[in-house]
Amino acid sequence: MRRAMVAGNWKMHGTRSSVRELIGALLQQKLPDNVDVAVFPPSLFIAEVVQALAETSLAVGGQTCAAQAGQGALTGEIASSQLADAGCELVLVGHSERRLILGESDELVAQKFAAALAAGLTPVLCVGETLEQREAGETLQVVSRQLAEVIRVSGIAAMARAIIAYEPVWAIGTGLTASPEQAQDVHEAIRLQLAAQDAGVAQVTRILYGGSVKAANAAELFGMPDIDGGLIGGASLNANEFGAICRAAGN
Ligand code: PGA
Repeated sequence: MRRAMVAGNWKMHGTRSSVRELIGALLQQKLPDNVDVAVFPPSLFIAEVVQALAETSLAVGGQTCAAQAGQGALTGEIASSQLADAGCELVLVGHSERRLILGESDELVAQKFAAALAAGLTPVLCVGETLEQREAGETLQVVSRQLAEVIRVSGIAAMARAIIAYEPVWAIGTGLTASPEQAQDVHEAIRLQLAAQDAGVAQVTRILYGGSVKAANAAELFGMPDIDGGLIGGASLNANEFGAICRAAGN
């Protein structure tokens, strides 16, 4: 059985005071003990969040990392080893906002994934199609290509040390959620792609769904056989809403 996971991606949101408030409210939440819960604050706030959550079961992750694990001359970037040193356990790689707005290629994402593993972090590999690609019937092809490049670089066994997040771009921050069946179809295809190379890896690798998940739709998404939890954007900035999503994953 795969353990459920709920991850909160705070994106580029928060001030010193709002982050303090959010942490305080999160600490008030009753979280299920059969779910792994993680938050991904802007890097500025990572140290503070790690410290505040130190005595809890919540994990902290970075939202991206450099394509190299070690420190170096790379202005503005953060190495995966620095995230690990700061107390992060995970890091998002290949979020669609970085792929589409900042131009990260499949090749760069695959390097970041490898750098995360090299630093001992769990990479959360985000994949997903745009609306245009879905309408052109290219969803499975796009997702499969994004995943294949990572497997090519890091090998299939590495996927068991990672988490995959399927996030259809058209569902992110739009209020449009994929239906549980639409999401399940893609999750199943991802698992079959893993299974084609290693059945054991396919069985243990967690695949999260992301894209306008909220407390009201979480339970039916998480009820699908290949959906192992969620990557939550907007709703993770509201502790009550996020707590309710975590509890839905525990049921
Ligand atoms: P959303 O974002 O929940 O606000 O749609 C999800 C994500 O981008 O990770």
